[in-house]
This record gives sequence, C-alpha cells and structure tokens, in this order.
Amino acid sequence: MRFLARSLILAMSLSFVASAPSEAREWKAIKDSGTIIAATEGGFQPFNYFEGSKLTGFEVELAEAIARKLGLKLEWRVVPFDAQLAALNQDRFDFAIASHGYTEERAKSVDFANPHYCTGGQIAAYKDGPLTVAALPGKVVGVQLATSYADAAKKIPGVRNIKTYKGDPEAFSALRARKVDAWISDKFTVKATLDKNPGAGITAGELVFVERVSMILRKNNRELADKLNQALAEVMKDGTYRALSEKYFKEDISCRS
Ligand code: ARG
Repeated sequence: MRFLARSLILAMSLSFVASAPSEAREWKAIKDSGTIIAATEGGFQPFNYFEGSKLTGFEVELAEAIARKLGLKLEWRVVPFDAQLAALNQDRFDFAIASHGYTEERAKSVDFANPHYCTGGQIAAYKDGPLTVAALPGKVVGVQLATSYADAAKKIPGVRNIKTYKGDPEAFSALRARKVDAWISDKFTVKATLDKNPGAGITAGELVFVERVSMILRKNNRELADKLNQALAEVMKDGTYRALSEKYFKEDISCRS
C-alpha cells in the first residue's frame, strides 16, 4: 500500500514536470553556452529562404550579424511558420526571426523585440484579376496560414472564400493555377516572387495594411530582449543593416518613424 501510494506520488510529480512549461533560457545560460538558437521558416523570400540547401535571406543574415555582435555562435532551427509561437513557448529555441508583424493577439503569448523592418500586406493577381480590396467581394483569396494576411483577408467584406496554405510558395502556386483569384502577402515577398516569375502574367496590386516586423521571444525574458535590441541597434548604427537592406531590397527598409 505504501509502495503504491509512493509510486502514485512519484508518477504525479513526474507528469507535473513533463507538462509544466520549462523556463526559457535566460541570457546568462545562453552566454555561458556560447550559442544562441534561432528559429526561422525558410519559405519567405527574400527574408528567410533556401538557396539549394543553404538557409539565407535578409533576416537570416541579420540574425547572424546580431549573434556576432553578441559574441555568440548562431544555430538555426527551421520551423513551420504556423508552429513557431507554440514551439517558442516550448523552449525549442531562444528567439524566432520570421517576419512576425506585431499584433495584440500574438503579444498575449510572446514578446516582440524592436522592429527590424516596416512593410505591408499587398494583393497580387492576374492582370485581369482583383487587384484592389474593392474588387475582392465574391473572390477567392489565398494566404499563408496563421499570418497577418489571413487576418486581413477575414476583415475584407464579401470575400467568397479564404484558402490557407502552409507556405507562401504554395499560395503563389495556387494563384498561378487559378485555384484562387488573389494572393495576399508581404509586398517585398510579392516583388521577389514576381521578379523570379516574370512570365507568369501576375502583377502586384493594392497595399492592404502596414505592419512593423520584429523578432519574437518568450514572455518576460527581459535580459535577452535587451541584448537583442542592443545588438540590433548596433548593427543599425554601424552600417551592417544598411548594407544588408541594400543587398536584398536596394533600399533601407527600417522603420524610420
Ligand atoms: N508578416 C506576416 C505576419 O506577420 C507574415 C510572416 C510570414 N513569415 C514567414 N516566415 N513565412 O504574419
């Protein structure tokens, strides 16, 4: 009986340990390990994408510059975009840099660093398709799952159907195949995609909303947030940010207001 009771208590405490959220790594633990672990998606050109087997893009290079400023090695985790908030809260990495626009909904479960660029969601469609919000009633819109574009599409009155895709490349393919009438994505992603597919007959339309994009980290991980913000400010000051922004966009995409 005593044995039973004791194993019951042991089993209960073990299951508690397994289900209790573990602590996010504090700055000191990260620093002592010498390596910071970052997540991105790898399907969002020109911010984070694969060139063959190599992860690259504006955000990938920016995070690498930030890690260098912090005197740390950077280790990447490639995580589907729609899984990143949950994975962050399971401590599978220290922060994510995957073009998260600030939203109040997201801010309930994660913290945002200072913005590393400003941008907007834009419509793309065939030249004879719906290129403005006013033309979207009755139409089918394709967006990436769990994005601010999905939220924006839901708010447009009269849209017939919103189809969600795991990634933007899939949403673009659906537009090309005319499975959707319009695609909403980041204006720079739309541009990069159309530049790579000049014969597709697809064009960029109206800007639907603007947003400020930041790295996300676990709630109340204050010291890490400070370090990331400091390092971001330094790369913005020393010209590293500007060079990367020119390389990928031929302009400075930082938030100037
Ligand atoms: N900026 C948009 C948002 O905040 C989309 C981000 C998508 N990121 C990505 N790596 N696919 O929801």
